[in-house]
Amino acid sequence: MEKLFYPNREEAKKARIRNICEYQELVEEAKEDYEGYWGRLAEEKIDWFEPFDQVLDESNPPFYKWFIGGKLNVSYQCIDRHLESRKNKAAIIFEGELGDKRVITYRELYYEVNRTANLLKNRFGISKGDRVVIYMPMIPETTFMMLACARIGAIHSVVFGGFSADALRDRIEDAQAKLVITADGAYRRGKPYMLKPIVDEALSKGCESVEKVLIVERNGEEIEYIEGRDYLYNELVKQESPICEPEIMDSEDPLFLLYTSGSTGKPKGVQHSQAGYILHAMVTMEMVFDIRENDTYWCTADVGWITGHTYIVYGPLAVGATTIIYEGVPVYPDAGRWWRMVEEYQVNQFYTAPTAIRLLHKTGIEEPKKYDLSSLRILGTVGEPINPDAWLWYYNEVGGGRCPIVDTWWQTETGGHMISPIPFATPIKPGSATNPLPGIMAEIVDEVGNRVPQGEKGFLCITKPWPSMIRTIWNDPERFKKSYFGDVTKDGKPIYFSGDGAIYDENGYIVITGRVDDVINVSGHRLGTAEIESAIGNHDNVAEVAVVGKPHQLKGESVFAYIVLKSEDSLGEDVELLKEINSIISKEIGAIAKCDEIMVVSGLPKTRSGKIMRRILRAIAKGEKINQDISTLENPAVVEEIEKKFQMK
Ligand code: WTA
Repeated sequence: MEKLFYPNREEAKKARIRNICEYQELVEEAKEDYEGYWGRLAEEKIDWFEPFDQVLDESNPPFYKWFIGGKLNVSYQCIDRHLESRKNKAAIIFEGELGDKRVITYRELYYEVNRTANLLKNRFGISKGDRVVIYMPMIPETTFMMLACARIGAIHSVVFGGFSADALRDRIEDAQAKLVITADGAYRRGKPYMLKPIVDEALSKGCESVEKVLIVERNGEEIEYIEGRDYLYNELVKQESPICEPEIMDSEDPLFLLYTSGSTGKPKGVQHSQAGYILHAMVTMEMVFDIRENDTYWCTADVGWITGHTYIVYGPLAVGATTIIYEGVPVYPDAGRWWRMVEEYQVNQFYTAPTAIRLLHKTGIEEPKKYDLSSLRILGTVGEPINPDAWLWYYNEVGGGRCPIVDTWWQTETGGHMISPIPFATPIKPGSATNPLPGIMAEIVDEVGNRVPQGEKGFLCITKPWPSMIRTIWNDPERFKKSYFGDVTKDGKPIYFSGDGAIYDENGYIVITGRVDDVINVSGHRLGTAEIESAIGNHDNVAEVAVVGKPHQLKGESVFAYIVLKSEDSLGEDVELLKEINSIISKEIGAIAKCDEIMVVSGLPKTRSGKIMRRILRAIAKGEKINQDISTLENPAVVEEIEKKFQMK
């Protein structure tokens, strides 16, 4: 049995949840009176303009509604309500990659967001329900834009800056956005990089709905400027009034869309709500990060992903914390950059991805020793399973053996943490997210919803609706139903299936084994194999392709493609082909989805009905034994061919 790491007793005394019994009490409270539990929290945490009169409406599953009748504004929740007690407290501490710094207090944030909100309303005619696409780097203005949308009731859709023009165009078109907000560019690895030209390219290929483009000047590099369409933010915003009354929003009005990859087709616009989302963001900031008044909190994610939304912007600000935003990469100018920042800002909670931990472990194993990291109290990880090696280094060298690691499992669709240790209550162990949070009915089950016995693999499901859950897929309620509520049932009713496999370990803890669908996780970036396959399929000489994830030391998984060519002549020119394929992927999706390796094969294993057996291809790429009967395949010989090729690699 693997060793457990116990919380420090002295620290535990000061924590919100001080021991496992207190955690258990909350779990019981939620079990006994589910709506009572969430209703109590919603009353305690949210500053309602008008109270809700019903906690949960389950009348039309899976379209659940929470806190019916309640009125609020999320930007008010994140800013206005702190103005009395925290007016000059730092809301945001920003550090640029080149070392430039900026501290924004809650009062300043209030003015900036109000001015921005007025600009969006007055100059660009944005009003409640309009969609605004935000394609921005990691700078404070990105937060102003998100909160300004929330203030006026516009629905933002932040698109990660690593996506290509084509991917950006698809997202703009799906959301029918009226306005695109971007920056000239920013800095990465010490050099300027550009975003605005990518927006120009996206808009040149469609996007009829877009009327205007708003540009934040960050790196001052030259950009093309289209008169009448493009506007510069920095000067314009100064002309606006610093007061903007928040729009009164309904609990269930959409707050934002965030596109994410699924196992089939195009990315889906995951739609989140106002009240349920912000409530869970706040509850988890307190439960999982045990955030306190004087803490400095740092989440290194990109704001283009859900982690950036919930745990850089909405969660920390809603609880009145100080949140750090860092512009660049972790290894610039060297692998000590982040630790230097932890020391300088006296960071208390540090939240990052396993892929970054692996990178810093590999490239800067001695770096943490050079800095005073004694301010750290809690460490966190998210996005993918973490291997024990990296976990132990993080625990011992970064956390000095003192700080609990909260390995938080959740998804774009869940809005916030679902399974995680409680930092000063749960004994932790490498590679396990441990237990569901109170009020989250996560369970590992078989196809018919029976809990699997310990040690047996099953599907990770959530058996009851929760406040911050996805409400629908934008414009596609049918797909929403099918994607999440199709496969697994309990008592005859479909329950939310996460797409992840998991097992209960010998402590009864949940260990995530990874996706069981066609989604792969490359450096914490969630990618759909279907999208990559469709890009590769556009190569002239590709007849058929199947993409799978292959274990990778740093990235977690890498993109691996099995390819059948149209013309046999080009066999053996894999390097050239790989280059060509990657340039197509970069164009259609973005460099983050590039293939690491390809294998040219004579055919793909298929069932007699012609379905590609991805499970077999995944197993081969992972180096696993195939324990499935392949004799029923249409072309069993192909499997042997592929296995042989692998052995020769
Ligand atoms: C994976 C990121 C293991 C999982 C917040 C999930 C994890 C997908 C963990 C969601 C974890 C996330 N341990 N795997 N602690 N956290 N995952 O939507 O496969 O970008 O389904 O949300 O990441 O990725 P997404």
